[in-house]
Amino acid sequence: MGKEEIEAAVSVLKSGTLTNKSGAGPRVLEFEREFARLVGVKHAVAVNTGTAALHCALLAAGVKSADDVLIPSFTFAGTGTPVLLCGARPIFADIRSETYCISPEDIENAISRRTKVIMPVHLYGLSCDMDPIVEIARQRGITVVEDAAQAHGAEYKQRKVGSLGEMACFSFYSGSNMTTGEGGMITTNDDDLVQTLKMIRTHGEERPYWVSRIGNNYHMTEMVAAIGVAQLRRLGEFLERRRQNAKILTDQVGVSGKLALPSEPDGVKHSWCMYTVRLRGANAGKRNKIVERIRDKNIEASIYYETPLHLLPLYREASGLRKGSLPETERAARQVFSLPLHPGLTSEDMSYVADTVRRIVG
Ligand SMILES: Cc1ncc(COP(=O)(O)O)c(C=O)c1O
Repeated sequence: MGKEEIEAAVSVLKSGTLTNKSGAGPRVLEFEREFARLVGVKHAVAVNTGTAALHCALLAAGVKSADDVLIPSFTFAGTGTPVLLCGARPIFADIRSETYCISPEDIENAISRRTKVIMPVHLYGLSCDMDPIVEIARQRGITVVEDAAQAHGAEYKQRKVGSLGEMACFSFYSGSNMTTGEGGMITTNDDDLVQTLKMIRTHGEERPYWVSRIGNNYHMTEMVAAIGVAQLRRLGEFLERRRQNAKILTDQVGVSGKLALPSEPDGVKHSWCMYTVRLRGANAGKRNKIVERIRDKNIEASIYYETPLHLLPLYREASGLRKGSLPETERAARQVFSLPLHPGLTSEDMSYVADTVRRIVG
């Protein structure tokens, strides 16, 4: 948070307009307009979390209890929760080992007549391979909702993520590439969907106090939106610093070959929300010990995600999957860990991270 965000928040408090009945006050409208421009889409709809954004998108896609939603298991809980909230069945597809993103080939295996939505997650800030996913969905009349919670500013074949499916959802949680503390946004080019999304964000109201479909109170407040506008203006600078920090890690951390470094396939521009490495051939115990030793040196190494969704009891029941069902997902969950690279870290900080990790990993 800088001076701009603080002034923006104070100006909202002084204005006396903290929100409005449809969650579309002047600051929210400004944030939506500017966010849509950034992504290169016609519309953006602001809500109060990324999870709420995904829930709105699934409801707008018409997801109901008889439907399946196809998602990766190697992701944050926020990807799965909205599926369960719709009463739908989460169906999990495996990931590609080099990118950790959902595998289009495995989507083909997991798809069925019940599949209503495919929800690819641009994990760690790297776009999924969207062309084959969009093609599979198009052939079968399935809606694609991008989970872009971690991928503000990422690109796929010179298009911004958030413009590649029918709808896309972003989070402004504090660990994201830009933040408002909590917050979310849905982007779309569809003029009908945007009306539906706005209704869902306000209890499903068609007009004031006339509720005609299920919705919720998912309003973004004016103060949050004002902070969002200020952050959006700095996003380019944040992304550039993340990229520079990632480069320092890539140049310095992997010399021994024991770590597989993150990939940036041709035509894809990473947004470096996380810098995730794989300890080749390791089991979870060995990886966890390395992470502990790095953390002992005052470096905030983290594991995203130690337990894939399909192995959580809640999802095991819903999906019917067992250990061993998604081998690449389970292998990644045992072997990956992430290193800090946020824009507050200097080149010296990054060299300290790289040196320390190199010494510990060997
Ligand atoms: C992949 C993914 N999906 C969904 C979400 C949910 O977003 P929020 O925490 O804003 O509800 C997150 C949050 O970071 C996420 O990383």
